[in-house]
Amino acid sequence: MISSKDLFSLKGNTAIVTGGTSGIGRCTADYLASAGANVAIISRHADMAKTVAKAISEEYDVLTVGIGCDVSDPVAVDHMIDTVSRAIGTADILLNNAGININGSALELNYEDWQHILDVNVNGVFLTARAFAKKLIAENKQGSVINMASISASIVNLPQSQTAYNTSKAAVVHMTKTLAIEWVKWGIRVNAVSPGYVWTEMNQIVPKEISDVWMASTPFKRFAKPDEIAGAVIYFASKASSYTTGSELLVDGGFTCL
Ligand SMILES: NC(=O)c1ccc[n+]([C@@H]2O[C@H](COP(=O)([O-])OP(=O)(O)OC[C@H]3O[C@@H](n4cnc5c(N)ncnc54)[C@H](O)[C@@H]3O)[C@@H](O)[C@H]2O)c1
Repeated sequence: MISSKDLFSLKGNTAIVTGGTSGIGRCTADYLASAGANVAIISRHADMAKTVAKAISEEYDVLTVGIGCDVSDPVAVDHMIDTVSRAIGTADILLNNAGININGSALELNYEDWQHILDVNVNGVFLTARAFAKKLIAENKQGSVINMASISASIVNLPQSQTAYNTSKAAVVHMTKTLAIEWVKWGIRVNAVSPGYVWTEMNQIVPKEISDVWMASTPFKRFAKPDEIAGAVIYFASKASSYTTGSELLVDGGFTCL
C-alpha cells in the first residue's frame, strides 16, 4: 500500500533553518520537526536560537540545536555546519531562509546598504549552500537545499523601491538553477520557494497605505500566512519532490499572474 505520509515524512533527516527564530523560518522549523526531522536553528543571536531549538525539541520530540551564526561570515558558516553535524547528525536538508531588506531606489540607496543586502541575501545563501554540499559530498550522502527567494526575483515591487533586495532575490533564483545542475551528480537537489507578501513582523510594521497597494495587486486580496509557505518547503525537503531540482515554486496568491 502506498502512503502519502511516508512521501512527506522527514524521519531520519536533519534540517538546518537559517533565520530560524522569526517569521517564515520559525514557522517552517516547526513543520520540519513535525514531519520528523531533527532541526538546527541558526540565528545571529545564539541565545535566541537556543531558546527556539529547545521549544521545538520539547514540542516535537526530535533532536535540535540552536547556533549563533552570521550567514555572511564564511568562517562562522563552516563552523556552524560542523557543529550541527556533531550535535544532531550531518544535515541533509538546508532551508536558506535568512534575508534582509532595506528600501531604497538605485539613486538613493547607500552603497553600504547595497553591499549589506547582497552580503546576507546572496553571499549568505552561497556560503551556506556550499558548506552544506561539501559536507554531504565528503560523507557520500544526498540532500536537498531550499532557497527562500521572492516574487521580487521576477517583478518590481511598488510603491516602494527596493533595488538591492530585488536584485538579490533574482540572483538567488539563478544561483538555485546553477547549483542544481552542478550538484545533480551527487544527488543534492536545489530548489527555490518564492513567496508573495507574507504576514510576518517585517510586513506588520509597513504603513497601511503601502500594504493597501500590495493587496490591491494580489488576487487573493490578503497576505500569506507563514504556514502557507511551509508546505512548499516540506515538498522540496521530502521524497515527494525526488525528481525536482532547479525549480522555483511561486506561493504568491496569484500575484505574478497579473
Ligand atoms: N515576509 C515576506 O513578505 C517575504 C516575501 C518573500 C520572501 N521573503 C523572504 O523570506 C525570508 C524570511 O523572511 P521573514 O518575512 O520571515 O522575515 P524575518 O525578518 O522574520 O526573517 C529573516 C530572518 O533572517 C535573520 N537574519 C538576517 N540577517 C542574518 C544573518 N546575517 N545571519 C543569520 N540570520 C540572519 C533574521 O534575524 C530573521 O530571523 C527572507 O529571505 C525574506 O527575504 C519574505
